[in-house]
Amino acid sequence: MDTFTARTPAPGATASTPSPDPLGVSAARDRNAVLEELIHQDPRRFRVLTGDRPTGRLHLGHYFGTLHNRVRLQDLGVEMFVLIADYQVLTDREVADDLTGHVEELVLDYLAIGVDPARSTIFAHSAVPALNQLMLPFLSLVSVAELRRNPTVKDENVHSRQSAVSGLMFTYPVHQAADILFCKADLVPVGQDQLPHLEVTRTIARRFNDRYGGGSAVFPQPDALLSRAPLLLGTDGTKMSKSRGNAIALAAGADETARLIKGARTDSERHIFYDPANRPEVSSLLLLAALCQQRTPQQVAADIGSGGAAALKRTVTEAVNEYLAPVRARRSAYARDRGHLRQILREGSERAGAVAEATLAEVRAAMHSRY
Ligand code: TRP
Repeated sequence: MDTFTARTPAPGATASTPSPDPLGVSAARDRNAVLEELIHQDPRRFRVLTGDRPTGRLHLGHYFGTLHNRVRLQDLGVEMFVLIADYQVLTDREVADDLTGHVEELVLDYLAIGVDPARSTIFAHSAVPALNQLMLPFLSLVSVAELRRNPTVKDENVHSRQSAVSGLMFTYPVHQAADILFCKADLVPVGQDQLPHLEVTRTIARRFNDRYGGGSAVFPQPDALLSRAPLLLGTDGTKMSKSRGNAIALAAGADETARLIKGARTDSERHIFYDPANRPEVSSLLLLAALCQQRTPQQVAADIGSGGAAALKRTVTEAVNEYLAPVRARRSAYARDRGHLRQILREGSERAGAVAEATLAEVRAAMHSRY
């Protein structure tokens, strides 16, 4: 049994030379090619779980990074659970401000981009007690040293608004394992920063099966699905992020979008061309227009030629506003009926609750704690 042993280092890595790829991105990419093939052959074989923390409006970075991938999977026929990770809001702050508002906005964003509540289960993890109960046996399967090594948690602690690291922050990757394993998801579409958490989930699944499975697997070992879209920069030229005030929200109106793009950082070279290494801001804007128009950034650049930043920004604004028009229309239609919104969430949480109860019953049977 591999309980509490360190992970096998990547080939060529030694204890004293830090790996150039500490998150394991390249292995995940190789695996993704295989998974995409399998999904296309038989989408109904797979169950996906994804989620977001309800801390603010989702933006175009989220959309092209992971959200549109979820809708693509749903539309291919993959079964999907979409989690609103409300407890996880408290990992890096003491108080979850306007939680109800943020949760409703998140549901609206999901519905607006095409998550279909008839086919996909949207739920909040605080509303599913049996999911949370899985955390106790799962905590027994990881060591404090392993939790301490998690590079994403380490990084988040550096940026945390709290002066001390809470027990919840320290253990949230284990909670995330409960989020994923309660429904026995086998695919998790995430960004690169979440790969260490997926590794914790896989470890927990493996150890649970070894220790309690009696020869059969209670849990699958889920795979990460990484988006192929390159990173979008925010309007200030750094990573697009809710907390940096540099994001274009899905919910932003056409005028707000125009204003944000107008204020975006560029450079003074009039000739517009795609060169992400040397002209990151201009290139990110080209990429954004290209993603919206399903063209290449080079094609977008060729049309602008020597028009300079002003022409670039006009093109990007039009591309984004045109692309988001149907999303915004759906969003405002759903926003008119908050009762319906809450009903979608309630029904999703009930569905997720039934699945979690069934898994917890299996876990208790495997652990001989059914009295
Ligand atoms: N940690 C994720 C984030 O910050 C949110 C999340 C919580 C999640 N539980 C999850 C993502 C389970 C995927 C699977 O984005």
